[in-house]
Amino acid sequence: MDLILTPSSPLLGKRIAEEIGVKLSAVSFKRFPDGELYARVESQESEHVVVCSLNSSDDFVLLNLLFDAIKGDVVAVIPYLGYARQDREFLRGEAVSVRVVAKAIEERAEKVITVNIHSEKAKESFKKLVDVDAMPLIGKSYEGEDVIMISPDKGSAERVKTAARFANCEWDWLEKRRIDEKTVEISPKKIDVEGKRVVIVDDIISTGGTVIEATKKLYELGAKSVECACVHAVLADFAAVKLFSSGVREIVATDTVERIYSKISVSKILAEKII
Ligand code: R5P
Repeated sequence: MDLILTPSSPLLGKRIAEEIGVKLSAVSFKRFPDGELYARVESQESEHVVVCSLNSSDDFVLLNLLFDAIKGDVVAVIPYLGYARQDREFLRGEAVSVRVVAKAIEERAEKVITVNIHSEKAKESFKKLVDVDAMPLIGKSYEGEDVIMISPDKGSAERVKTAARFANCEWDWLEKRRIDEKTVEISPKKIDVEGKRVVIVDDIISTGGTVIEATKKLYELGAKSVECACVHAVLADFAAVKLFSSGVREIVATDTVERIYSKISVSKILAEKII
């Protein structure tokens, strides 16, 4: 068995290879002048692990090119499974994007492993999916610290409850109302954050809109400081600049999307599911 690195997850891929004790396959990628992508895999092995977060459409194209290039069996490790938020037909005629992604991956891979897929609904598109929870790792990274964990909405409440259990701290959630794609309003809920160090915990920080609105609300409620922690630091649209500018003191994330904020590695919990 060997492990194939991809441009979206080079460090996490290398860490996983070290955890499971396999070598890295020789792989090369290039982009042609017209923008088309190319992939080549030189391997003598008959079993492979591919580690490829889907943080852009290019990542999805590359993954499919690899599926064609690889000879033999494949375990697909997709640490951040993008396109999972479009998990249903919200408006008549819409593509269910996660279904398309699931079909392409499962057609080729014997097993699919991801971290905190966005929703239970998204899971329904897969037959071979192993979904690993990184919330205990996020919680443990705050163990012994005097913090309160807040979910920015009810949807993430169960995740935050898990993180708080491992951090051994109090937790709560805020109510959220989405106005449009980029605007989110938070209505107050009865939480006592006055004078407290608050950590907003979520699965994904994408534009940062959700965390920024929650941050404003928490400062209005008297929080001493606000930080944020997430599994997938997508951080699109200059989100980190916006987060810090809104008063967020720190961004903590896992390495499902490799960022400077990826202070927690999911390599071990993924490696445990491969073999
Ligand atoms: C929502 O259901 C998710 O849990 C996140 O709160 C959301 O995806 C974050 O997106 P953004 O950073 O763009 O507000």
